[in-house]
Amino acid sequence: MYQDKTVKVVVCSGTACYVMGGSELLLLDDHIPSRWKGHVELEGSPCLGFCKNKTQGKAPFAVIDGEVLSEATIPGILKKIEEKLGET
Ligand code: FES
Repeated sequence: MYQDKTVKVVVCSGTACYVMGGSELLLLDDHIPSRWKGHVELEGSPCLGFCKNKTQGKAPFAVIDGEVLSEATIPGILKKIEEKLGET
């Protein structure tokens, strides 16, 4: 369905992101629909540096296939993955 497509998701688990709700994002794996299994690569990361740059928006941050998502939520990340997989 998605051929060889893999979407890489990096969730920041640095302090600023963690306290702003990033801790919840680390549970993302439990919310990935089974049809996407094998097509989503999930990774935690120490501070990505975006929290220090006010122009990037607010924590928590996630990066989906190179695209920075501020104020990230699980539904927000799932929506981005959906876009990247070309499902929408
Ligand atoms: S703690 Fe997440 S970008 Fe800095």
